[in-house]
Amino acid sequence: MDKILIKGGKKLKGEVEISGAKNSALPIIASSILSTEECVLTNVPLLKDIQTIKLVLESMGARVRRDGYTFAIDAKDLKSCEAPYELVKTMRASVLVLGPLVARFGEARVSLPGGCAIGTRPVNLHIAGLQKMGAEVEIKHGYVEVRAKRLKGANISFDISTVTGTENIMMAAVLAEGETVIGNAACEPEVVDLANFLIKRGAKIKGAGTDTIIIEGVLRLSGGTYEIMPDRIETGTYLISGAITGGDVTVRRCVPSHIEAVLSKLSVVGVKTEVFSDSIRVVADRGISAVDVRTMPYPGFPTDMQAQIMALMTISNGLSVITETVFENRFIHVPELRRMGAKIKLQENYAVVEGVKSLSGAPVMATDLRASASLVLAGLVAEGQTEVHRVYHLDRGYESMERKLSGLGADIVRVK
Ligand code: UD1
Repeated sequence: MDKILIKGGKKLKGEVEISGAKNSALPIIASSILSTEECVLTNVPLLKDIQTIKLVLESMGARVRRDGYTFAIDAKDLKSCEAPYELVKTMRASVLVLGPLVARFGEARVSLPGGCAIGTRPVNLHIAGLQKMGAEVEIKHGYVEVRAKRLKGANISFDISTVTGTENIMMAAVLAEGETVIGNAACEPEVVDLANFLIKRGAKIKGAGTDTIIIEGVLRLSGGTYEIMPDRIETGTYLISGAITGGDVTVRRCVPSHIEAVLSKLSVVGVKTEVFSDSIRVVADRGISAVDVRTMPYPGFPTDMQAQIMALMTISNGLSVITETVFENRFIHVPELRRMGAKIKLQENYAVVEGVKSLSGAPVMATDLRASASLVLAGLVAEGQTEVHRVYHLDRGYESMERKLSGLGADIVRVK
């Protein structure tokens, strides 16, 4: 298994380019199921999770050609409407094929994702939404089996704002009969990116990016070409790499408005930020002050950036309270950061971080995608060598992280 070795202490300097958004690419790739015509997607990031959704589609009979960052998907002759356990267990976002399959074929059999390292993460809201649209649902042998002749538009108000739940219901509703209104819809930019691609293919969707999305069903969708938007979580992670090392980093090819919650925290802690149309420069030439952070659905502070901002707070000159409101168990990076000398106390859903003068390099274990990123960030500033094990978690969501960080001057290598 690969590991990453980092010798901390280098101030990062230079420019880094952001890849396409993983969480946009996944639903957009799944949405190709909705049509018999080819979809051609550009700026698709080279990631393990993208490989997994490709395998899910191929296992159903879709033809997927990848040429660098371009994906061409032909889902004309799907032979099966099943997403098997072997694939769903490695990536729960595989559940994104559920809505499109039921919408186009009137049936789907998708393995129920189990719990994962950051929480129980049920899909009950996806299922309840489809039931409201007239689908019959059975849970059998660990699979959710859904049937519906043609889905009917419905008023669906989510109890909790759910990103993939909103995406699944939106994809189901574009081919349903009549109007669907999604209340308390997720407002994340990835939902908007998916909606834009569906609209380009003939879907009638209004309100994506707000908490009420209205979809008027149509009889068919065409194929289409589309460029995946830049990844806002990768953007935030590289901004913090500049901040934590006292560096001067410019993050290029990003959408600054998508990451405002993170930018405003960076300003508060004393990092200078300069925002341009599609790039952001951070300069950290003073110490880092402490700030409290509370994760929230978009446009709040993203839960997917909680572990990374915590890494930054470990070296602040004060006390910071980090509250996680989205997932119930998203502090698994804490014991690993403590092994590097961080002072963190955990209490229910919040962590109290007392900044220390310096961290010390140590062997640490990656436990989930964003937790892994926080360990790499901590390693960049720690004294001596940090060894990050189980980096396959990192490969799920960060394209060539060690190459991008080396380009900024970090002393980092991957060992096979
Ligand atoms: C998506 C992102 C993930 C991010 C998360 C929150 C993708 C592929 N993944 O995950 O990176 O961390 O949004 O921004 O886009 N919930 C239920 N029942 C449901 C669905 C969700 O109780 O049926 C709960 C979850 O357990 C969680 C909360 O709702 O506590 C929000 O989760 P959700 O937005 O659904 O996360 P994902 O879409 O899985």
